[in-house]
Amino acid sequence: MALHTLLGMEIGVPEPEGLDAFYAEIGLSGGKGAWGGEDWPGQIRVVEAPYRQLMSMRIACETEEDLASAESGISELGVASRRADGGLEFEDPINGWRVRVEPAEKGDVAPQPERVRNRPGVRARTDARAELIVEQNPRPPRRLGHIVVGSPKPLETTPIYRALGFRVSDVVGGGIATFMRCSPDHHNLLIAPGRVPYLNHYALEHDDFDSVARAATLYLRNHEDDRQVAGPGRHQIGGNEFWYMLDPSGNIFEFFSDMDRIEDDESWKPRDDWDLEDSWSLWGEKRQPEIFFNPPDMDAIVAGYEKAQAG
Ligand SMILES: [Fe+2]
Repeated sequence: MALHTLLGMEIGVPEPEGLDAFYAEIGLSGGKGAWGGEDWPGQIRVVEAPYRQLMSMRIACETEEDLASAESGISELGVASRRADGGLEFEDPINGWRVRVEPAEKGDVAPQPERVRNRPGVRARTDARAELIVEQNPRPPRRLGHIVVGSPKPLETTPIYRALGFRVSDVVGGGIATFMRCSPDHHNLLIAPGRVPYLNHYALEHDDFDSVARAATLYLRNHEDDRQVAGPGRHQIGGNEFWYMLDPSGNIFEFFSDMDRIEDDESWKPRDDWDLEDSWSLWGEKRQPEIFFNPPDMDAIVAGYEKAQAG
């Protein structure tokens, strides 16, 4: 495996201080524009920008040869790149965000103790209250798992990331949305349609669904304004349990757990026959809400993007 980890992303918003408070609230570690799970600090960077947008993403590969392979792959598509600080960098020629690939050690976040559950025939927790009931503090999110972006040209954008070394896990709508991975996660990047390039959502992994549900519930109870977007549910594509909400900058973020994991690329068979009407969630809401494709600030994003293009 050449690419192996989504190292992080940088997002730009008009009021970055609001996100500092938000990430502290949901239990991420860090401060002043650099946040992450305790094991992987700094995965999320926040800068000021005239409108809400994805600024960049960082991906890890194993070796120098992987960098050369990524470099020649995108070069064949006419994408110019440069070497900087031991990595490969380029600007997405269609969507404008920056991409950096760099060699790094493989690794995962440290496992936390599994919560002991009772089920028929296996009564594993006896004479003790459930951990969730007695834990002092909710377990925090562990890491950034994936980014979903909207692009005006998804069919032309996806090949750039495939040439970079991303592997395809599943395909929807003849390639209008392609779930890709740069790690064993079912997806780290999904390119979906958008009026202009924008951040559709970003996703933070939790230990389990109890953590997802408790963290989401606390967040929603703590805010009077309506920040619920979708969930809870379980995606057919990727298998992850999810809950989507709005952060104070208007980004949709997802808490998720139990995503499909692909260690042996040969054994995974991507599907391209998903029924759009019935692939959002096995339980809960049947369809993906329109807000993902038309968020409340979409007009401001389009105006900001067009102004930047003109300038
Ligand atoms: Fe997601």
